Amino acid sequence: MTAELSPIDRAKYAAAVRAVEFVKDGMKVGLGTGSTAAWMVRRLGEMVRETGLDITGVATSERTAELARAQGIRVVPLDEAGWLDITIDGADEFDGELNLIKGGGGALLREKIVATASDRMVVIADAAKEVARLGAFPLPVEVIPFGWTATRTLIEELLGSLDVLGRTISLRMNGEAPFVTDQGNWILDLHLGRIGNARQTSLVLNQVPGVVENGLFIDVCDVVVIGRGDGRVEVRDINTGDVERARVEFAEAGNAFADLGD
Ligand code: A5P
Repeated sequence: MTAELSPIDRAKYAAAVRAVEFVKDGMKVGLGTGSTAAWMVRRLGEMVRETGLDITGVATSERTAELARAQGIRVVPLDEAGWLDITIDGADEFDGELNLIKGGGGALLREKIVATASDRMVVIADAAKEVARLGAFPLPVEVIPFGWTATRTLIEELLGSLDVLGRTISLRMNGEAPFVTDQGNWILDLHLGRIGNARQTSLVLNQVPGVVENGLFIDVCDVVVIGRGDGRVEVRDINTGDVERARVEFAEAGNAFADLGD
C-alpha cells in the first residue's frame, strides 16, 4: 500500500511513525491538525486498537477530533484533560531554532493553546518544511470578523516598521465566502516573503485589537521529527541538542493505510 503513496506522503508517514514512539501508556496527548498530523492520529489509533495503548487525546480542531474518535482514540476537551504530556503536530515551516509557522490548515489558535499547555511539543514534518529563515509560507493571522478591514489596515501599517520583505495581505477564502475557523473567526494570510525578526513580529501582531493570534510559534517546539520519502527520519531536540537518525520500514506500516477516507 505504501508503494502507492507519493514520496511526500511517505515522508510525512515516516515522521509520524517515529514521533508516536514518544507517546506512552497513560499520557494525555495533544493531537495536531493537517495532513502530517493525520498520519500520526491514524498510527496512534492503530496502537490503541491493536496494542491497547491507553491515552487521552485533546484535538486541535474539529476535524482532528472526528478522525481521532473514528480511530478509537478517547478525545476530551482541553479543560477536562488539564495539562498535557505531549502534543504532536505538523508545521508549515520550521527554522534552525525550531520556531514555526503554522496555520496553513486554519487551526493555529487551538494548535497554539494546546501546544503551550503541554510539557513537550513534537513537530512532524517532511524535509521540505525546513527553512533558513521563516516567511516564504504566508503567515496566517486569526482575526475576529468584526471590523476586519480596520484590523487589516492596522497590520499593514505595522508591517511598514517590521523587517519583512513583502506586505501583501489576503483574506483566506473558502469558495465565495471567508474561511471560518473552529472559533468562528477569519484568517488573514500575510505574504511576508522573509521575516527578519520572528519574535518581534509575533509580539507586535498580537497587539492589534482585532487579532486573536498569529501563526508564529516561538520557543514552543521542543523536538522536530523530519521524515524523508525513503523512510529516513531525523529527530532533533532543541533542548538537549541531540540529533538521532533512524529509518522507518514501510513494510511495518500495518493498517494505517487501509482506512484512508480523507
Ligand atoms: C494546521 O492549521 C496547520 O498548522 C498544520 O499543522 C500545518 O499547516 C501543516 O499541515 P500539513 O501537515 O498538511 O502540511
